[in-house]
Amino acid sequence: MEVRATAGALAQSESIVVVGLYQDQPVTGFSAELDQATKGLVSRLLERKEITGKHGETLPLHAPMGVKSPLVLLVGLGKQEEMNAGRAFRAAAAASLRLAEKPRGAVAFYFDGSWSAPWVEHGVAGAMVGCHGQDLYKKEKKLNPHQEIGWAGDAVAVNAGRVLGESVNLTRRLVNEPPSRIYPASFAEEAAQVAAACGLEIEIWDEHRLAKERCGSLLAVAQGSTQPPRLVILRHLGGKPEESPLALVGKGVTFDSGGLSLKPNDSMLTMKDDMAGGATVLGAMHAIAKLKLPRHVIGLIGLVENMPSGSSFKLGDILTARSGKTIEVLNTDAEGRLVLADVLDVAVERGAAQIIDLATLTGACMVALGADVAGLMTNNQEWCDAVANAAKQCGELAWQLPMFPEYAEQIRGSVADIKNVGDGRWGGAITAAKFLEEFVQNKPWTHIDIAGPAFTDKPKPHQDAGATGAFVRTLVEVVRRACA
Ligand code: BES
Ligand code: MN
Ligand code: ZN
Repeated sequence: MEVRATAGALAQSESIVVVGLYQDQPVTGFSAELDQATKGLVSRLLERKEITGKHGETLPLHAPMGVKSPLVLLVGLGKQEEMNAGRAFRAAAAASLRLAEKPRGAVAFYFDGSWSAPWVEHGVAGAMVGCHGQDLYKKEKKLNPHQEIGWAGDAVAVNAGRVLGESVNLTRRLVNEPPSRIYPASFAEEAAQVAAACGLEIEIWDEHRLAKERCGSLLAVAQGSTQPPRLVILRHLGGKPEESPLALVGKGVTFDSGGLSLKPNDSMLTMKDDMAGGATVLGAMHAIAKLKLPRHVIGLIGLVENMPSGSSFKLGDILTARSGKTIEVLNTDAEGRLVLADVLDVAVERGAAQIIDLATLTGACMVALGADVAGLMTNNQEWCDAVANAAKQCGELAWQLPMFPEYAEQIRGSVADIKNVGDGRWGGAITAAKFLEEFVQNKPWTHIDIAGPAFTDKPKPHQDAGATGAFVRTLVEVVRRACA
């Protein structure tokens, strides 16, 4: 898919044209340009309430008189005073999705020439995300990506938006791929290709190296599977030589059957998405490298498959994590925290100044916050605020959960230092985070539980069902702010 800044006038464009329209106000900017070229057509449609400009609303006009375009799609931008990067993303995505019902050549977006760079970036990303679906293996595609996307706006911002859109779609594709294709070794291969393409350094630890590195907690989860585990370490050295890196850590369970604590069918159905945290880290690292952000950032992805077999780890097993802490296994389905325990330890060893981890960690987080909102948990309020503010700026939904010390009492062990589950299911998102906190050695750390927002069963008006690529844009924004 080609993406470029459009310079020409709307009325002269021979592409399919998408024109943004604010709600409850007369036409302005590009919508006024279209109105003039079509001798007042847009104003008449507004008058008759055929379109109101409500956010995400669309109205196709086939070859209207006065313009060269064969198809003009009007799209509502909502109230002008409510516009932000998240709404720019979703409005463009909704328009793009609507057009993707058929294969299209060039589609040119004319939203608002006065937009600041971030809004343009997120708008362009939305245009790219909206027309890509989860139908990777359907002969007759439900969504057809446009051959070319044009955006009337500053070329530097359009280019940065292209990088964001590519990165979100990379994450989505990896999560949407079936677990027979994406397993630890193949994910690591994908990461190596991404690294080569965008100039990231990469290190891949195989099962032997993981054993040499004493990653006993991660290895225990992997031991039930015929697929050997991997740890991917990506490095973007954009900062000053002596600077400590920011670390992005991802849960990469390429399939979570639950292990011997086997999940029932319906709970297992979408467990190919249990590597979404890892895919989000890879997508974000891709963007950070391509945007050449001036900050050292490392990305660490713990890759395992959690399976039941004669060689599985067992209930009652005692594991020794890389940090030296011992863990009593009470449920093999609480495997994400076991993987992250060792990966977080490597992040600390690599000198991380701040850590963010992303994981489809608990169903309990979805019970607490619903399917569209990520849970934030932290040991450092300032660092959590930085993540929360970045998410807000991008229009990605996140909400902080408390980390009172009392929650940690639930995971104190009687046989080993800690247990891998709390007592009963209450507060399960937080007891899981309390477990992770044991392995970050008091470094500023924020945990993002994306069990809900990483994947949707039903399509949204602006995005197909399946993987969402949620929090790729937020991570890029966090790193950008950390550069300032
Ligand atoms: N990968 C799951 C969490 C999950 C659930 C992600 C639903 C996405 C959607 C995780 O490994 C898991 O199984 N967690 C258990 C923890 C429990 C055994 C303490 C859960 O949430 O039930
Ligand atoms: Mn599990
Ligand atoms: Zn899991």
